[in-house]
Amino acid sequence: MIRIIEQRFSEEEKEIVLEILNSGQITRGKWTALFQEEFANYLGVKHVFTVCSGTVALFIALKALGVEGKRVIVPAMSFMATIDAVYLAGGIPVVVDVDDYYTMDPEQLEEAVKRYSPKVVIPVHLYGQTADMDVINWLSEKYGFYVLEDAAQAHGALWKGKRAGALGHISAFSFYASKNVPMGEGGAIATNDEQIAKNIKKWIDFGDHPAFNVRITEFQAAIGYIHLKKLEENNKKRREIAKKYQQYLNGSFIHPEEREGAYHVYHLYTLRHPHRDKIISHLKEKNIDARVYYPYLLSELRNAEHLPTPKAKKFKEEVFSIPVHPYLTEEETDVIIEALLSSVGLVPNPLY
Ligand SMILES: Cc1ncc(COP(=O)(O)O)c(C=O)c1O
Repeated sequence: MIRIIEQRFSEEEKEIVLEILNSGQITRGKWTALFQEEFANYLGVKHVFTVCSGTVALFIALKALGVEGKRVIVPAMSFMATIDAVYLAGGIPVVVDVDDYYTMDPEQLEEAVKRYSPKVVIPVHLYGQTADMDVINWLSEKYGFYVLEDAAQAHGALWKGKRAGALGHISAFSFYASKNVPMGEGGAIATNDEQIAKNIKKWIDFGDHPAFNVRITEFQAAIGYIHLKKLEENNKKRREIAKKYQQYLNGSFIHPEEREGAYHVYHLYTLRHPHRDKIISHLKEKNIDARVYYPYLLSELRNAEHLPTPKAKKFKEEVFSIPVHPYLTEEETDVIIEALLSSVGLVPNPLY
């Protein structure tokens, strides 16, 4: 089976895990500190706090912004953690549609902001591409809401030369096993804002305020640290594979487009086709993993208040993702392309 996501760990990583075991310092040691410092440098932000998952990163970020009883706007397409974190933090989510890049529709956002006066807006950089952050940040200044980036799928993505995760007031990352920087489990919150950083600390440092233990172990931090060094190269490989797919599959599917000013890191390569279920079955028969990210809309899944979401509704029925990980060989991408081309021969022409 050609897996949709694959991770490989180097000899260096294996040696460091052993070294950590031998040292006896398996949590709260130099690797956690080093990773936080390196990730902050990489993003170009002042503060990074590692936590145990992306969901917890979103939750604490929302707590640090103070969303209890306040509206929080999220896009219709994302992993469910984006909206669940809002509920868990005591906020009231409002769901808006996506644009043609699968990220928050900025035009509808303005409509929603006028109607609901949100405290926070959460653009999700879905599949590895940033939302239209110029418009979102402009609206944030105009109407006075916080921008919390959900960058769980966008390690290394850029928007006009700036890193995803450094584009709003605060951001949340995941280092879940499938992510472009994997730790097994893990997450991080990043911000440049001193007051927000202080608020975050209340939730994660034991002291005056009731706090959680959300730490990662030294093993996770060390694996993250080494993967971070490989991130640029791995993202380049993902982009090369994406380019090849675009070149050879052109015309048969709707491909993910790169927004002008964006650097897409293809955490997932997500195509669209009206007969995607048949295509997925055909790929599976050929031993190629393909999946739907995500088979739900956040508004429907949690029965949340929402604006009309015609695009997300259509996309939900048509999207499917194929392998794009950096360990794919030329032969494997050839096999994937061939299987996709033969699969569209089996279904009517979509006439896009
Ligand atoms: C967009 C998005 N947000 C949030 C999360 C939550 O991260 P985690 O699984 O680490 O809790 C994920 C990933 O799983 C995600 O893809």
